[in-house]
Amino acid sequence: MSQVVMQADGLTRHYGVSQGLFQPKLMVKALNGVSFALEAGKTLAVVGESGCGKSTLARQLTLVEPPSGGTLTLDGEKVNPNDAAQRQRLRSRVQMVFQNPYASLNPRQKIEAQLAEPLLLNTPMTAAQRAEVVTRIMQRVGLRPEYRHRYPHMFSGGQRQRIAIARAMILQPKVLVADEPTSALDVSIQAQVLNLFMDLQEEFNTAYVFVSHNLAVVEHVANDVMVMYLGRVVETGPKTIIFARPMHPYTQALLSATPSIDPHQRQKKIKILGELPSPLNPPTGCAFHKRCPYADVRCAVEEPVLRLLEGRQLACHHAETLPVNP
Ligand SMILES: Nc1ncnc2c1ncn2[C@@H]1O[C@H](COP(=O)(O)OP(=O)(O)OP(=O)(O)O)[C@@H](O)[C@H]1O
Ligand code: SF4
Ligand SMILES: [Mg+2]
Repeated sequence: MSQVVMQADGLTRHYGVSQGLFQPKLMVKALNGVSFALEAGKTLAVVGESGCGKSTLARQLTLVEPPSGGTLTLDGEKVNPNDAAQRQRLRSRVQMVFQNPYASLNPRQKIEAQLAEPLLLNTPMTAAQRAEVVTRIMQRVGLRPEYRHRYPHMFSGGQRQRIAIARAMILQPKVLVADEPTSALDVSIQAQVLNLFMDLQEEFNTAYVFVSHNLAVVEHVANDVMVMYLGRVVETGPKTIIFARPMHPYTQALLSATPSIDPHQRQKKIKILGELPSPLNPPTGCAFHKRCPYADVRCAVEEPVLRLLEGRQLACHHAETLPVNP
């Protein structure tokens, strides 16, 4: 039976940015009402250009920051942003892997201690029991247990990411949020690390939220895809449906730029004109209208809301009448 382990309802995060003394603060609307339900053992991939709010979403999901609005339910418990004890308890159920493993590992601590730390903080295990679990997880992620006395700098980039994954998985979290976890690695190493993610998911039935710029990676790992633009979801649904026939003009452009995805289907690369607008001053109507080849007057004034169409949710006024394969 499928089991929802994480549910987001209208998650929103705004940041106040100072304009200088005596000036009113401006609001960066980094995340604007994001919703999804994620089942155990499944992967939701989050895609979109730099600055669309992917890492902001990841920080809300891992309880690093409280949202400005909306709710998050983790493993059946609604997260209360004002309940520090609950947050502490829930933190072991959602873990994070970052793009840069240097940033998440302590350079001055042997990896044995870094891997054992979550066990020390969250379980009543003895030192001997912790050492045993560390040995097992090191073997599981493809690291030789005798390397436990080494420091992070003594490992390669790929090995360091394996250490970060081991640390994130050691408490067997319900959800793992990975923010561009392979994009800093050599291409030759990326596939190995992705396969490790997938093997661990199968073994532990962990749910993944997988943030990635790389749509070939997304095609490989995702069950569901969520395409974000300026803090909002513009199209979301099962990967197979969206990759077979993207319907939102922004998704169409993103997918057309990925050469490895079904070259027979996608004849030409669709160029996205202009730059991502500032979230400090988002366009009226559809946030994509200044860059969309199909925008009309309605798009400039009326904001499209997510609606169900052909097996996915999307936010576009004209989706029914747009070309299938532009
Ligand atoms: N602490 C903060 N204070 C103010 N603005 C912020 C803060 N964190 C993020 N932002 C802004 O929110 C928007 C979304 O940023 P975010 O880092 O979530 O994007 P991203 O999709 O992860 O981008 P990238 O692909 O480059 O990692 C950006 O405009 C960013 O400048
Ligand atoms: S609502 Fe209009 S501007 Fe927005 S994606 Fe659809 S056609 Fe383009
Ligand atoms: Mg980011």
